[in-house]
Amino acid sequence: MLIFGTIAIAVYAIISVKTTTAASSLITTTGVTSVATATTVSVTTSTITTSSTTSSSTTSSSTTSSSTTSSSTTSSSTTSSSTTSSSTTSSSTTSSSTTSSSTTSSSTTTSTTTNFLFRWNSTGITLAGVTGSAGASSTQLSTPYSMTLDSSNTLYIADRNNNRVQKFLTGSSTGTTIAGQSNGTGGAALNYLNYPSDVEVDINGNIYVVDSHNHRVLFWPNGSSSGTIVAGNGISGTSNNQLDTPYGITHDWSANIFYITDQNNHRVMKYLSNSTSGTVVAGNNGQGMGTTQLNYPLGVYFDSSSNSLLIVNYGAHNVVRWVLGASSWTLVVGNTGVSGSTSTLLFTPFDVTCDSMNNVYVADSGNHRIQFFFAGQSNGTTVAGITGTVGSTSILLNQPTSIVVDAQFNIYVVDYANSRIQEFLHY
Ligand SMILES: *[C@@H]1O[C@H](CO)[C@@H](O)[C@H](O)[C@H]1NC(C)=O
Ligand SMILES: *[C@@H]1O[C@H](CO)[C@@H](O)[C@H](O)[C@H]1NC(C)=O
Ligand SMILES: *[C@@H]1O[C@H](CO)[C@@H](O)[C@H](O)[C@H]1NC(C)=O
Ligand SMILES: *[C@@H]1O[C@H](CO)[C@@H](O)[C@H](O)[C@H]1NC(C)=O
Ligand SMILES: *[C@@H]1O[C@H](CO)[C@@H](O)[C@H](O)[C@H]1NC(C)=O
Repeated sequence: MLIFGTIAIAVYAIISVKTTTAASSLITTTGVTSVATATTVSVTTSTITTSSTTSSSTTSSSTTSSSTTSSSTTSSSTTSSSTTSSSTTSSSTTSSSTTSSSTTSSSTTTSTTTNFLFRWNSTGITLAGVTGSAGASSTQLSTPYSMTLDSSNTLYIADRNNNRVQKFLTGSSTGTTIAGQSNGTGGAALNYLNYPSDVEVDINGNIYVVDSHNHRVLFWPNGSSSGTIVAGNGISGTSNNQLDTPYGITHDWSANIFYITDQNNHRVMKYLSNSTSGTVVAGNNGQGMGTTQLNYPLGVYFDSSSNSLLIVNYGAHNVVRWVLGASSWTLVVGNTGVSGSTSTLLFTPFDVTCDSMNNVYVADSGNHRIQFFFAGQSNGTTVAGITGTVGSTSILLNQPTSIVVDAQFNIYVVDYANSRIQEFLHY
């Protein structure tokens, strides 16, 4: 057991996968054991086991040969005390009968097991901002809302109360302003922002900024001192060319389409590149808890594997999946309309993302924690922060509003009320 500060990290072990064979039968058993020694963090999945078995038999007066090949793939998901496992086995067995008095057989089984541990250091590292000290200097942030990473892990931060987007190169604690004014002054001209809430970056370093209180989305070319409007017309409204306090953005880069959560219209809009008007893809049926409705949608994530959007429904304390083209959502996490702090509930969530294995991470703001859910599961584990405890130490969060997972599974959290960006390293 490893101890960091006051948090003990649970360590799980996957105990071997056994394959036994008899001359003409194949039995595959899978044993998964978890050993939880303490609270919160550690969870384990994706045990990939390949087994090969060869058997041979020889007889005295005639020769019989049999061969058995098998492969088994096991996926297991383990959360604190519940274990699920499944195995699929495909086997082909050929045996021929033995015709003499003595038979010897031997079998050899080799197994290779690869474990991927879902565990993070619960002690966060501050990458940007000065803890608890909001301000507009180049090392400070002021209640940032969200962030994104480019392929070099450069941070792009929607620095909300400073009405700017800050860029921090990896390893630097000094940011530069790439959209809006560096002194934090907000405005409505095309070189100003007014409470930016989300940002995305393309492969050329151009950014898309959700300029929330200007009810628009700006495209800001790399190095430019002003943006151009790509969604909304700057005036709040309900038409298809308008937005009302938009919040989140996600791109389908392969199709050059982006989706905007149109918070106060309780809908999600789709914009094709260069179109002046959007189309409704989710909600727009009034604020509510019904499956055709949204309730202050905030963070949004495009899941290309299922052509769907994961949408945080702030006002319903849930995360829902809306398949593009469908007319309603299905529940992913939370109990619609019910807030709480148990492992299956959320309290005013702000953001959602997925890793490359489709596991779900939620910035559960009102509970001051980051929750992790295995793909398809609704029972979560806290992987950063402590449920219900507000603070500014390295193990605590104060209203996390954005969550990003990089290619190495490290977690980046926008720690809104502490005006800082925290990283929790995967190990
Ligand atoms: C969720 O997991 C916790 C901890 O392992 C367990 O106590 C609880 O019963 C689970 N809840 C559900 C709804 O599966
Ligand atoms: C976790 O982070 C702390 C502080 O940076 C460090 O001292 C510790 O070695 C880390 N533990 C692991 C397992 O990486
Ligand atoms: C901030 O910068 C803008 C643009 O340069 C300038 O117009 C404004 O006066 C500055 N505000 C303050 C408070 O310095
Ligand atoms: C953005 O512009 C800066 C300054 O010109 C340049 O250093 C950087 O490489 C550009 N980013 C990308 C992704 O091209
Ligand atoms: C968008 O319009 C501009 C100006 O007409 C044009 O230069 C650009 O190529 C267009 N982009 C796309 C992706 O169609």
